[in-house]
Amino acid sequence: PLVATVLAGGIGSRLYPASRSHRPKQLLSLAGEDTLLERTVDRVAFADAVVVVTRPAFVDAVRETVPEASVLVEPAGKDTGPALAYATHRIEERFDDPVVLALPSDHYVDGDFEPTARRGARVAAETDALVTFGVEPDRPETGYGYIEPGSDHGDYAEVAAFHEKPDAETAESYVARGYYWNAGIFTWTPRAFREAAEGTPLGPLLDALDAGDADGGFDAVDPVSVDYAVLERATDVVTVPLDVAWDDLGSWDALQRLLPADEDGTVVAGDAEVVSVDAENNVVASDDVHVSLVGVEGLAVVAYDDRVLVVPTEEAQRVRDLVATLKERG
Ligand code: GDD
Ligand code: MG
Repeated sequence: PLVATVLAGGIGSRLYPASRSHRPKQLLSLAGEDTLLERTVDRVAFADAVVVVTRPAFVDAVRETVPEASVLVEPAGKDTGPALAYATHRIEERFDDPVVLALPSDHYVDGDFEPTARRGARVAAETDALVTFGVEPDRPETGYGYIEPGSDHGDYAEVAAFHEKPDAETAESYVARGYYWNAGIFTWTPRAFREAAEGTPLGPLLDALDAGDADGGFDAVDPVSVDYAVLERATDVVTVPLDVAWDDLGSWDALQRLLPADEDGTVVAGDAEVVSVDAENNVVASDDVHVSLVGVEGLAVVAYDDRVLVVPTEEAQRVRDLVATLKERG
């Protein structure tokens, strides 16, 4: 069976202050009425089963948001590497001959995802490789992983190398060389995942899970994304093109691409009321704050609860560093 495995345990720190530990991005409705998580679960309704993987703090909110999905609770939030090792292990126990289709819950997708997903799952079952879906880039995005394609096999291409989140200069050279974006959507058989995880920080975690010690395994593992832990090191990785319009709603600049702008290029998310005088190409996000912009350009102005963030949209990825700084200060 095809088991859709939706990752919904991240905090979404780049969407601070809308996204915070008590209200992560997948439970926000930023570009439309439904939350990102609801839309993700709807998108994979064709799968034989849908499992949402999340950390303990979000379980109640996830159950309430998507009552139709089954919820898998990882012992602790340790990023996508441990989350997917845990999910793959549990799915292997519960299903007969499963193919895992892992998807983030912070994506915007327009189009029918089913044919692409089925193609990927078929390649995963046939090749026993890790399959990652690739997107043709239209800008040197630094917030994504890049796929360096190798030889072409028709339905899929080999991945010669995988490069997670390059700096701006490197990203530009990747785009020029025809690399793809990694959509962050993966499909694999448990066997392929186990093989690829051997010798990585996820190997000992899988051993602990096999021994029935999930808590110990999670205590011992450091937070790491599946991209750094496994994809960058694995040798048997292939890529299938993602045949739908796609974006990651991970940072404030994404709203400029996804929401309609007024004649000054102002994009408003939420219920903010905005007055602009001689201001261009700004993003404003808030639930109830009245925002005025005068003579400024290319800014994201975000106000939620009692917190305000102002950042050039071009530097929206750096909000992650800000949140780390805020955390250190306590
Ligand atoms: N269960 C669980 N536990 N889920 C998590 C955790 C965790 O500890 N941490 C993050 N997630 C979820 C997030 O909620 C999100 O849905 C998904 O995992 C991906 O995490 P992001 O933090 O959004 O990853 P990213 O956008 O920086 O990078 C990934 O996606 C890009 C494309 O969207 C990478 O795969 C990149 O290579 C890729 O280009
Ligand atoms: Mg993301």
